[in-house]
Amino acid sequence: MNKSAWEFVEREVEATKKRHMREFFESDPTRADRFTVSAAGWTLDYSKNRFTPALLHILLALAEESGLREATEAMFSGLPYNNTEKRAVLHTALRNRSGGAIRVNGEDVMPQIEAVLEKMGSFTNDVRTGIWRGHTGKTIRNIVNIGIGGSDLGPAMACEALHPFSKKSMRTFFVSNIDGTHLAETLAQIKADQTLFIVASKTFTTQETMTNANSAREWLIKELGDDAAVAKHFVAVSTNSEKVAEFGIDPANMFVFWDWVGGRYSLTSAIGLPLMIYIGHKNFLRMLRGFHAMDRHFRTAPLNRNMPVLMAVLGVLYNNGYGAESHAVLPYDQYLSRLPAYLQQLDMESNGKSINRNGERVGFQTGPIIWGEPGTNGQHAFYQLLHQGTKLIPADFIGFCKSQNPLGDHHDKLMANFFAQTEALAFGKSAEQCRAEGVPEELVPHKVFEGNRPTNTLLADALTPDVFGALIALYEHKVFTQGVIWNINSFDQWGVELGKVLAGRILPELTAAEEPELTHDSSTNGLIRRYRAARAK
Ligand code: F6P
Repeated sequence: MNKSAWEFVEREVEATKKRHMREFFESDPTRADRFTVSAAGWTLDYSKNRFTPALLHILLALAEESGLREATEAMFSGLPYNNTEKRAVLHTALRNRSGGAIRVNGEDVMPQIEAVLEKMGSFTNDVRTGIWRGHTGKTIRNIVNIGIGGSDLGPAMACEALHPFSKKSMRTFFVSNIDGTHLAETLAQIKADQTLFIVASKTFTTQETMTNANSAREWLIKELGDDAAVAKHFVAVSTNSEKVAEFGIDPANMFVFWDWVGGRYSLTSAIGLPLMIYIGHKNFLRMLRGFHAMDRHFRTAPLNRNMPVLMAVLGVLYNNGYGAESHAVLPYDQYLSRLPAYLQQLDMESNGKSINRNGERVGFQTGPIIWGEPGTNGQHAFYQLLHQGTKLIPADFIGFCKSQNPLGDHHDKLMANFFAQTEALAFGKSAEQCRAEGVPEELVPHKVFEGNRPTNTLLADALTPDVFGALIALYEHKVFTQGVIWNINSFDQWGVELGKVLAGRILPELTAAEEPELTHDSSTNGLIRRYRAARAK
């Protein structure tokens, strides 16, 4: 983080900390108008945050001085921005609808991207219309995606989000956990002859995915009584053709993507295949247009009107200025119930780092803990802490003017709660107001709401594929901007490696017939012995 720019921010934060949002609104009747921006179908009202115009100005200067513009251009134009893996970071090319070339090492990647999109489109058509059939001639009704992390969370979240646009005779399932329960419970709900398995893995070496894929293949062969059935019931999405062929999937039934697409940024690559089959080619392209609209906005809008940048600098303000540890994402739409889980990977795997791009330890907080649940459910669970707890938790409220399921007055009630919560969090309720309402004196302290709790409100007309795409791109660029400000590489994930290596060492110790010599610490040794003893009974 740019030290001298941050010192300016800190000084201004100290002055702002003592002030209440009530004052900001009272002293400036235009505050909401001034601090609302629109882009790609979304309106962001960020006025209910703890900043003065001067503080916002300094925060934007911090972003500017961190080299955000240069970093953005480096990413969009295919330079090796992921410096620890020496790779380009080009998820934005996957939804580049401009018709322009994008080069990696001198080669235009757009023709390959278009070719894969076309192949996905024609396969999607074949599956949806019954041209592609299972081994016994039945049409495909169930799509089972086998993948984990970025090869699962994006399409799983998106299939739920865009369910109203889906083919109703089609069902999608997502198996990610190596816990056999996940696969077993899924297989119990489907018929093999009507099922297509999509094995999705960037590397095609991930333990969970390969274990689930092997078990699914065994199940299919057993159910259909023929090894040859695999050809009509398994396709793959990967960057690793060799491993796909080794698994026994015909390379003709493989959909490729490239090492310059990070797992958690891969929804718009072939990883989106289950989504495309579910909602159709046209709706998928609509979603890509939404992503692209937000990409363009992020790349070209001035920083003070730039939605991802504004959300990013406010996040930095709370994280580094106000000491907030977490950030809540609260979608007021049941279809977005998996959005917080998706954003956990996007944000925490990207910015959960203590070492900067130059290999030095950072001297400040980086990525926050992301969490959340759909409203209004959370209101009856954890909002107590948001309103009256001792922790400052900035939150994003995400809502829509129109429901996909207009049912009586449900939507107006939902949205009344949506608006009420940000109002209550910002302005609270004073002791005087409580007394004026006749609250007994001993209860006054309990009934006071301090307010001054920051929120962003994101509002769109309806949850359509393009609006959805723009929302995901918004968060991608927010995370990117924060990574630039903190000078960390948001595109590697070395922190997931050690556990994988240790699990590889422990697995044979759990299953060895002879008591193995254990050389871990006493806690791990003891736990392994306990497990072995119970397993043997
Ligand atoms: O272990 C973390 C991770 O590498 C994620 O970054 C990735 O999205 C996930 O595992 C799955 O990896 P793959 O697509 O290679 O199976």
